[in-house]
Amino acid sequence: MAAAPGTLSFAVRSALGETGALGATVRQLARRVEDTPGRIEAVLDTLSRRGDVLRIGRGLWMLSAYERLDGRSDFVDPRAFVERFEQESGVSLGRYSGPITFRSNESLPVHRWWPYVQGYSAEFVAGVLAEQGVGRGSTVLDPFAGSGTSLVEARRAGARAWGTELLAPAVLASRVKTHLELVPSHLAAGARQFLVAARRRRPGPLPFLRETRRQFSLAALGELTRLRDALPPEGSPVADALRLAFGQILIPASRLHRSPCLGYDRRAREDGPGPFERFRAAVREMTEDLGVVRAERVRLGPPATVRQRDARDGGWPQRSVDLAVTSPPYVNGMDYVMNYKVDLAWLGYARSYGDLRALRRVEVACDNLPRSETAAYVAIDHLPDPWLAEILPRIRENIRRKGTYRRDDMHAVVHRYFSDIVPVLADVRRTLVPGGRFVVVVGDSLLAGTYVPGDLLLARIGAALGFSIVSVEVARSRRSGQRRSFELRESVVTLARPKSAG
Ligand SMILES: C[S@@+](CC[C@H](N)C(=O)[O-])C[C@H]1O[C@@H](n2cnc3c(N)ncnc32)[C@H](O)[C@@H]1O
Repeated sequence: MAAAPGTLSFAVRSALGETGALGATVRQLARRVEDTPGRIEAVLDTLSRRGDVLRIGRGLWMLSAYERLDGRSDFVDPRAFVERFEQESGVSLGRYSGPITFRSNESLPVHRWWPYVQGYSAEFVAGVLAEQGVGRGSTVLDPFAGSGTSLVEARRAGARAWGTELLAPAVLASRVKTHLELVPSHLAAGARQFLVAARRRRPGPLPFLRETRRQFSLAALGELTRLRDALPPEGSPVADALRLAFGQILIPASRLHRSPCLGYDRRAREDGPGPFERFRAAVREMTEDLGVVRAERVRLGPPATVRQRDARDGGWPQRSVDLAVTSPPYVNGMDYVMNYKVDLAWLGYARSYGDLRALRRVEVACDNLPRSETAAYVAIDHLPDPWLAEILPRIRENIRRKGTYRRDDMHAVVHRYFSDIVPVLADVRRTLVPGGRFVVVVGDSLLAGTYVPGDLLLARIGAALGFSIVSVEVARSRRSGQRRSFELRESVVTLARPKSAG
């Protein structure tokens, strides 16, 4: 039954109609129709009992008519993009059936030293290396090295491993995890001495993060500051391993968790082991694992090189890499700086909010980027791919219709994201030997009610830069954070530098 014009019910329905597939929260609706949140909630309750409106997650409400995005005239669905991609590129989407997420690494020696939810599986990397015949004498590059999954596996395959990564804690993890020559008894002795020194210390100052006292119990803060202040300076294999063990216990010793975004854990772990005990356990795990991989040492490739820098700057020698394998940030997937701020602050890599902001300006674009960084991308021109000429205006239009969204320049964030990816693709192409491959694990996104095929766009941009598209294989499906019922995917895109091209 349609509500009569002039009633609150009519106003709420009209306001929801304007926000379309994006939906709106109670507070947003209250502002829009100039009424109280309490009265809006009551109207939504009635409308929802009638089946006229529904909740779509994160406190958002939507008209039921917008429930299915596909089929709407203002929505281009994943299938349509796949069809166009297959037609235009001549490449049909395939399937990758092995494990792809980091989860399987959590029980693997070495990989488990710094659980990185955003990482991919060691088994996936090992499979790619084997398939490409990587071995002694080969060079493998990972421009977004993260916790070093690719680099560890490349060394274990006998290859030279090169990586770049922006976040210092991840660089530390990559360095320690690739230094498998570390003698377990040296680490154990170093840890014993270190713990004696830490126990003798008094609790020290807290890092700059405003929420530190909420994030940790008082007892944990006391032990953590003593551990932190006793850490030897970075630079030797034992000192770096101790630092990583300290980094590894930070979140488990806090009231936070990552799933995958950093948030408070409702089941606070106040009564779990304290930081000293957790630290001892982390070092024990490392010494055990170093013992397990000891036999592999003779087969390892040369020491890995991990540079802390912006992947867009590249800088590796031309035609020197046999295989590049990576997983970049996804379109608006994750603000890594935000997610690793605790690690950055406690490990001394960021000393102020200004330091965090500076890092955010360099990381591949996500929606926490300051507006000054997207200003050059507001105009829909100079696009890395023609498909963006359709996608970006759709994002802009949906947000304009809704009136309130996290930010009104979201299309510029997406524009900048793909512009950030271009120099990385171009530089990897330059560093690959002719015939060399670039294997990229990347996902698609749903943003402001607009579908963005991140994997297909990356493949297309690669093709425009002179790669040939070897394959796009769907590895798994994911749920959209914006709308739980919407299925997204994660794909393995394989590009090749043609043998004959210059
Ligand atoms: C999906 S993760 C890579 C995870 C990795 N495959 C692993 O298994 O650990 C993407 C990484 O890109 C990094 N990153 C973001 N922007 C960057 C930039 N401009 N330069 C270098 N690294 C960057 C993030 O810090 C993050 O570690």
